[in-house]
Amino acid sequence: MAIKILVLHGPNLNLLGVREPEIYGGVTLDRINQALRKLAQELQVELEIIQSNHEGVLIDGIQQAYGEVQGILINPAALTHTSVALRDALAAVSLPVIEVHLTNIYARESFRQQSLTAPVATGLICGLGADGYLWGLRALVSFLRCNQ
Ligand code: DQA
Repeated sequence: MAIKILVLHGPNLNLLGVREPEIYGGVTLDRINQALRKLAQELQVELEIIQSNHEGVLIDGIQQAYGEVQGILINPAALTHTSVALRDALAAVSLPVIEVHLTNIYARESFRQQSLTAPVATGLICGLGADGYLWGLRALVSFLRCNQ
């Protein structure tokens, strides 16, 4: 049975390409998702992709995926730094999680330097731009294949 992975994009990531391109780059979320789907085909895994600007929608996605997917690739965006509820949802389902950030959050403003979600993630990739999502998917699939 093919591995299934839930990909979650948090608030404002729908604006990638337009949003502060000097910080986040010029690649749109559609292009990131296309690249993820192409890589998923190569790796022979299935993806479910959700972007939402609403914390509750992301939490519902995690809860609904429980029992349906084997791992989660997430960029929680600003919720990284604020959402105990999102962290609790990730901890509750107890699935392998790779957290991705386009930017190196530890080299930015002090309020971005704490991730509430990283401690419940399996691993963290940040600072590699849009490519970070592809490294994240590779890492998650490799982790799942070695640990299942
Ligand atoms: C981000 C970093 C966050 O601090 C910010 O709020 C985002 C994007 C990143 O991918 O670098 O929305 O998660």
